[in-house]
Amino acid sequence: MAKVFIGVAWPYANGTIHLGHMAGSILPPDIFSRYNRMKGNEVLMVSGSDQHGTPITVTAEKENTTPEAVAEKFHAINKKAIEDMRIEFSLFTRTHTDNHTDVVHDIFTRLLEKDMLYEKETMQYYCSKCLRFLPDRYVEGICPKCGAENTRSDQCDSCGTTFETGDLRDAVCVHCRSAPEIKGTRHFFLRLSAFRDSLLRYLEDKTYWRPNVETFTTNWLKDELKDRPITRDMRWGIPVPVDGWESKVIYVWFEAVIGYLSASKEYSAQIGMPELWKEFWCDEKVRHYYFLGKDNIPFHSIIWPSMLMGYGGLNLPYDIPANEYLMFKGGKLSKSRGGAIDIPSVIGRYDPDVLRYYLSINMPDTHDSEFTWEDFQVKVNNELVSALGNFYHRCLSFTKKNFSSIPGALNGDELRTVTDEIKRTMSEYEGYMEGCDLKKALKTVMDLSRFGNRYFDSKKPWASVKENKEQCGEAMNASLQIAKALAVMAWPFMPFSSERIWKFLGLSGTPPEHGFGACIESLPVGTELPEPVPVYAKVELPKEEAAAERPGASKAAPSGRFADMRRADIRVAEIIEADDHPDAEKLFRLKVDVGEERQIVAGLRAYYKKEDMVGRKVLLVYNLKPTKLRGLMSQGMLLAADDEALGGSTVALLRPSKDVPNGTRFTCGLEIDGREIEYKEFQKAVINVTSINEVKQKAAVITDGGERIPLSDGNGCYAVVDREIMDGANVR
Ligand code: MF3
Ligand code: ZN
Repeated sequence: MAKVFIGVAWPYANGTIHLGHMAGSILPPDIFSRYNRMKGNEVLMVSGSDQHGTPITVTAEKENTTPEAVAEKFHAINKKAIEDMRIEFSLFTRTHTDNHTDVVHDIFTRLLEKDMLYEKETMQYYCSKCLRFLPDRYVEGICPKCGAENTRSDQCDSCGTTFETGDLRDAVCVHCRSAPEIKGTRHFFLRLSAFRDSLLRYLEDKTYWRPNVETFTTNWLKDELKDRPITRDMRWGIPVPVDGWESKVIYVWFEAVIGYLSASKEYSAQIGMPELWKEFWCDEKVRHYYFLGKDNIPFHSIIWPSMLMGYGGLNLPYDIPANEYLMFKGGKLSKSRGGAIDIPSVIGRYDPDVLRYYLSINMPDTHDSEFTWEDFQVKVNNELVSALGNFYHRCLSFTKKNFSSIPGALNGDELRTVTDEIKRTMSEYEGYMEGCDLKKALKTVMDLSRFGNRYFDSKKPWASVKENKEQCGEAMNASLQIAKALAVMAWPFMPFSSERIWKFLGLSGTPPEHGFGACIESLPVGTELPEPVPVYAKVELPKEEAAAERPGASKAAPSGRFADMRRADIRVAEIIEADDHPDAEKLFRLKVDVGEERQIVAGLRAYYKKEDMVGRKVLLVYNLKPTKLRGLMSQGMLLAADDEALGGSTVALLRPSKDVPNGTRFTCGLEIDGREIEYKEFQKAVINVTSINEVKQKAAVITDGGERIPLSDGNGCYAVVDREIMDGANVR
């Protein structure tokens, strides 16, 4: 028996958690924890509400209440939502507690003593009327470059320029509209730069990390690490444990990650074993797993490990199986997309196990996955109900009706056949589970249920029950053995229904009390069976969910222009040769490498110098029908933004924001069908460039129902402009 620590990213207490949180970071650790408990391992799994930081103060200001009220309200809602989904934490606590404050102060103080924190002055806006320093989003003014009004103090949304404190013209405090001063303010900085070598060493044996986590982390470590300010000029948060720092708090990210440790201590105290946490944190053999969404990667793979190393004596993350996003009709599944996806409302309509099934089989583990209610209906009805549910029910009800108790295995031939298949499945399943490859593990379970159905059919029990009842009983014994194995292996994913099947099999206790051994342990022959009922029912979508899928039916539906992006196969290419077109003064003849070589004719001579073309990374519409342009074949088209329609005269090529391999596909989170398309069809997709937070520069986006969906590789690489251009410029 081993001990396992599981940390789950702490959801912000400024909104209700929804299906995206579940699929991305909350359900996976529950599955993994249940798997470990089924194996007999001892699991400590903690998380809680992340209750500090500006998201919460902003919500409080909007709702005219206190940050504390917001943080408590959503903590209660989210804690209940988590329980309703049957996520079993050792402890789901919150960050606004005395215990958390104490643990944060302990870490802060130790790091300070060890010279891993230091004070430094920075310049910042200060409102002498409101008597406070103003974070970026609290200061507005005129952009000194393009003249746009109501521009935030860190960056201009219109022209993309980024500012230092003081750059903005006519800056005002958004609260009282008076002009802020600029004042020096002292902050504590984490000496992250000192940890680069230790981090590189730490990463050496992490060859098993998911590629997205590995790549992201090593990219961060390519350059020098910058020291980071870890205090803020605000009141809501954990106080800085140093005299004279009463007007500041510790930065939310610095303290939230400490929650993993403080919650472990809180749990230990709560169960009356105050030293228990040490068994998990100080014994190097205990593996620490952290489950989170991809936007949280650096905090868990770089900053938290640095803090732990700095503190000393505590275990570092062993694995960080970060997930990509669950996309809701192309956008990141977020509450801004409205209604029906928050947990309290979905739990009222669907069985938690059914939701858990769909979120598991559609888990965004290696790439973004799309959520639609239609797909939910299809997968639940055609997989869960038809394969697993049907198998459970047909063998239980047939046995009950014809034998009323568990029939014997005779000489065991049938049982041996199915046991071989069960064992094979178990070993595959275990391999996937150990690697946190949860979706694949569930697929092996579903395959076993399909095997069960085929086995049942091949034995024709409806005939043999009349001809040779003993033989029929033997086949049913074997079928029930499969059902039992399924109930065990499916339990981490769908605990409610597995436990019900367990009862229908006449077994005592619950699957985890028996463990994986129960998969092949024979059934108690002769035990009377209770009357079974189907554990899964087909789902039917209520009108509004079905309607939301039809274009134009509601504001959440994909608009035509968005749907058109399904047709465009866009890929990263590199220009390897550039020549003037012999017969057209505006055109270049280019050779590009897009995984293969292609010739492209492009009308860029008025905007780019030939010598500047070679070596450039560009984005190519890969599935355009090849056409001749002034006698030369063009096998595709480069994406460029053009502000002519806005009155400008700039053309800017799009390029990937990061170095990604030639041929990498860029989408708006849609499945691309890849057929050849005409230029006319491509034109239907309306793409614009605008500044996006992800890259702090202008990037290509599709606008759908008010939401901007950037074009990307799904892995943090965006289609950005390679020169400044007006906001809203068209891409063509
Ligand atoms: N609240 C953060 C988010 O929702 C996650 C914090 S994870 C922690 O993105 F480890 F810092 F708590
Ligand atoms: Zn003010």
